[in-house]
Amino acid sequence: MSTDSALQDGRELLDAVARRRNFAIISHPDAGKTTLTEKLLLYGGAIQQAGAVKARGEQRKVTSDWMELEKQRGISITSTVLQFDYTGNTINLLDTPGHQDFSEDTYRTLAAADNAVMLEDAAKGLEPQTRKLFEVCRMRDIPIFTFINKMDRPGREPLALLDEIESELELTPWAVNWPIGSGEQFRGVIDRRSHEVILFSRAERGRQSEERHLNLDNPELKELVEAELLEQAVEEMELLDAAGAELDLELVHAGELTPVFFGSAMTNFGVRPFLNAFLEMAQKPVARQSQDGPVDPLRPDFSGFVFKLQANMDPRHRDRVAFVRVCSGRFEKDMTVRHARTGKAIRLSRPQKLFGQDREVVEDAFPGDVIGLNNPGMFSIGDTLYTGTKVEYEGIPCFSPEIFSWLRNPNPSAFKNFRKGVNELREEGAVQILYDNDESKRDPILAAVGQLQLEVVQHRLQNEYGVETRLEPLGYQVARWVTGGWPSLEKVGRIFNCKTVRDAWNRPVLLFKNDWNLNQLHEEHPDLELNAVAPVVSGVEPISL
Ligand code: G4P
Repeated sequence: MSTDSALQDGRELLDAVARRRNFAIISHPDAGKTTLTEKLLLYGGAIQQAGAVKARGEQRKVTSDWMELEKQRGISITSTVLQFDYTGNTINLLDTPGHQDFSEDTYRTLAAADNAVMLEDAAKGLEPQTRKLFEVCRMRDIPIFTFINKMDRPGREPLALLDEIESELELTPWAVNWPIGSGEQFRGVIDRRSHEVILFSRAERGRQSEERHLNLDNPELKELVEAELLEQAVEEMELLDAAGAELDLELVHAGELTPVFFGSAMTNFGVRPFLNAFLEMAQKPVARQSQDGPVDPLRPDFSGFVFKLQANMDPRHRDRVAFVRVCSGRFEKDMTVRHARTGKAIRLSRPQKLFGQDREVVEDAFPGDVIGLNNPGMFSIGDTLYTGTKVEYEGIPCFSPEIFSWLRNPNPSAFKNFRKGVNELREEGAVQILYDNDESKRDPILAAVGQLQLEVVQHRLQNEYGVETRLEPLGYQVARWVTGGWPSLEKVGRIFNCKTVRDAWNRPVLLFKNDWNLNQLHEEHPDLELNAVAPVVSGVEPISL
């Protein structure tokens, strides 16, 4: 390559990275994630009308026959990533499936995100799902932007909502705007940095409310807003100022301080100012940790990792898609990349961009983007793809399973499909598979983080592979991987009050009924090192059923 074209490529990459922002929304069901997503997409011109996101979901609900499960899966199928352009920036919104029950899928998506938007319902504050997802963000110190939604409805005291974030999440909140009144008396917000007031006007349900902007010292304001509401908001703002914290971007990027915004997604109030401030403050695609240290997104050679696999996205084609987060360099269609785990060279001829159910072939992609690759079974979660010198990204942490169940196949003639389904769903990471140490018990054990994961596996086996299965709970709740594998386990001899099984990589896993039994083992064998999650495997093929 000539120096000139290398220079031009470098500039192009620099520009693409500078313009990219990627984030995921973390929230509890019903906080308004779909509504907020829709409003963000409207600004990006990615959809033409309000209601489009929802309408597609509703339509699917009607045509679906697996009711609730299909609906929930529908969410994760249709919106793995939504890309849109806004004011010259390219924004990638990664979807975290909105399951009531938490699942591993969500965690993996967060592994591909550079920023998170924590969405709260003003009346409810922090809710269980939000807390769990927050913990995952915290593990990687992802910057968090908080949007407190549904301000048009009676909610909790704004100061109490901030206190809750501070005391329960140990995250310093910094209110970027401050609400004037709430519920029936919600009048708007004051931007704390510019002292500009954005007035809220109640619009018909689902309609865009009018946003009027005036300065806090504009005398006209007194005619538009009740004096006591305005006074209270100003007093509270002074209280916040006196508390002294500064909006320090370094702290935001370190995941220690969260800018907080108040608004109402449904009435589209405060969404645009939020998006503008987010673009100003959010982290650009950052260097990712590989086994040999951080990899700069500006590294000229392409690299990325697989964070999600999904089989049968389109049931008519029975295809399997691997989602790759681009981490460095420019990705181009027809590129030949190397697969770090197996060392194989692969030509990527049909990379896809997915928007809802629509797909289009992508010509190129840059750090922060997500591409979908056709996966004929060669990609696993956490796999790295690269060009140039070898890069291998650190694996995506698994979560310790808490639910274990035999998966029975009562119909021996369906064994072939049963085996195919179990292997493919394991590969996809829908569930972890364990095997009894006693080889006469050949049925697989499903190990999951949430009960819904098991139900999804059962439904998918039936719908996609045509096998009806039965779940039989094992009655264990805690799993530990043995550091040092079988030799370490043999060294300690016989152990009690736990069951020894093996995982898909033939590694010993101990199952306990409760933490008490686990602690007992720790006391009896202090030298036996145990791991709550499966260590990342590289270079080995798993055992299939
Ligand atoms: P989710 O994806 O987080 O689960 O939430 P979703 O957007 O579906 O919103 C849940 C409910 O909250 C919806 O009402 C939605 O209209 C409402 N909502 C979202 N944002 C706001 C807001 O700013 N103010 C108010 N008052 N409500 C809001 P629904 O009745 O369940 O559904 P729908 O009939 O509106 O479709």
